[in-house]
Amino acid sequence: MTRIQTAAPPQRDEAALGAALRDLRRRWLLVRTADGIGAVDAAEGRNPGVEAQQVIAEARPITPERLGDQGFMRAHGVRLACVAGSMANGIASEELVIALGRQGLLASFGAAGLVPSRIEAAIERIQCALPDRPYAFNLIHSPGEEALERRAVELYLARGVRTVEASAFLDLTPHIVHYRLAGLRALPDGGVACCNRVMAKVSRREVAARFLSQAPARLVDALVTQRLVTAEQAQLASRVPMCDDLTVEADSGGHTDNRPLVGLLPSLLALRDELQQKHHFATPVRVGAAGGIGTPAATVAAFAMGAAYVVTGSVNQSCVEAGTSPHSKALLAEAGMADVMMAPAADMFEMGVKVQLLKRGTLFPLRAQRLYDLYKEYDSLADIPASEREAVFSLFYRSRAEGTRQSVSGMGLGLYISKEIVVRHGGRIWVESEPGKGSTFYIALPREPKLSEGAAVPAVPPALAG
Ligand SMILES: Cc1cc2nc3c(=O)[nH]c(=O)nc-3n(C[C@H](O)[C@H](O)[C@H](O)COP(=O)(O)O)c2cc1C
Repeated sequence: MTRIQTAAPPQRDEAALGAALRDLRRRWLLVRTADGIGAVDAAEGRNPGVEAQQVIAEARPITPERLGDQGFMRAHGVRLACVAGSMANGIASEELVIALGRQGLLASFGAAGLVPSRIEAAIERIQCALPDRPYAFNLIHSPGEEALERRAVELYLARGVRTVEASAFLDLTPHIVHYRLAGLRALPDGGVACCNRVMAKVSRREVAARFLSQAPARLVDALVTQRLVTAEQAQLASRVPMCDDLTVEADSGGHTDNRPLVGLLPSLLALRDELQQKHHFATPVRVGAAGGIGTPAATVAAFAMGAAYVVTGSVNQSCVEAGTSPHSKALLAEAGMADVMMAPAADMFEMGVKVQLLKRGTLFPLRAQRLYDLYKEYDSLADIPASEREAVFSLFYRSRAEGTRQSVSGMGLGLYISKEIVVRHGGRIWVESEPGKGSTFYIALPREPKLSEGAAVPAVPPALAG
């Protein structure tokens, strides 16, 4: 039976005992004393004059550096196995990526929704600030605008972006395969170097299986034919998986399948093991967790379930560096569990895809759902009854092109912003539509406009932050 004599008396009252055990940086010994159980810091000096106490348990330190896969930390050159995930439209901003990169942590720039020139500017700025520190860029699958995905890959390859967070993929595309294969090199020891690292974020088994396997031969062959990869790279492709890291994303902010992490993570860990046994890759794919991780307890729980690393999203919007407006930050700070809701996604509206958004203080999800219902019901703006048509000036209203089922591209903000500007100048805006003929929009402005208070162009509404 181990006994110990320490200089300081054991922490015995309930609050002090709890505080001691929550102090994860130190090693604590639980001792039985004449008055009950107490905790002593194992690093306290021994004191022979003090009565020895019986040690009944030991609580070892758990520092953040010890959590997660050391291989992940080495591969990405990071201090912790904690990653800040991409958030669209630069919400995961340059400032955020740079601040974390300077601390030796990986963050992925929110490139989705941005035009190539804006992404290029972000690459320049981040590379300049972090010449030898970790950073990543989002490579988002764009089914509607394939050129955006291609252009992003071209930029990343040309500018030497070595890590991408690949997300929203439903299947592998030539672009993601191009990025991965263009970074393959044969090593002198016979191994294969994957210089272009892919962290694939998935929430479905079938998509996970694609990233956990080699690039499909049909896509590899096409890339060789187009001279986008060499014959050697094509041959090396058969020896490595399509990603280095697979982030299993459970119920999360933004695009989500709403799956619970406790079910999804073990299932995809098992899939990784199954496919690794089949393919025998030299370095097995590391599996991380995302979705609903916003506290230390949730982080430890994800690691306890076997995550190699964790990715956070929503919680990062609270930091000063996030490209979220102060108004949105204030709304998010007030939000509780039940204050979010699934709503039609602006970027995949026509496909009926939904995202998880803040409901409280925005009403966005309800309006967006109404807009989607109108989109399904009517073929054109002119078909919508006059009373409903008034809603066209409300937030997020987006029409189909006249006489077609084709939606007009954009976020549906144009009319909202126009109305705000016109009204604040003391003017009026209205629409007149005739079925089969089309719609005419009118604006009337006073000759000497009087700007109302705060008459700046309205900021993008908070709900769009997602
Ligand atoms: C506002 C917002 C925007 C997001 N945009 C993207 C994105 O463009 N690309 C992406 O891969 N993930 C995006 N995500 C997902 C995050 O990177 C992360 O995987 C997710 O938020 C983790 O779940 P959590 O929100 O519960 O922490 C977004 C998340 C939020 C909250």
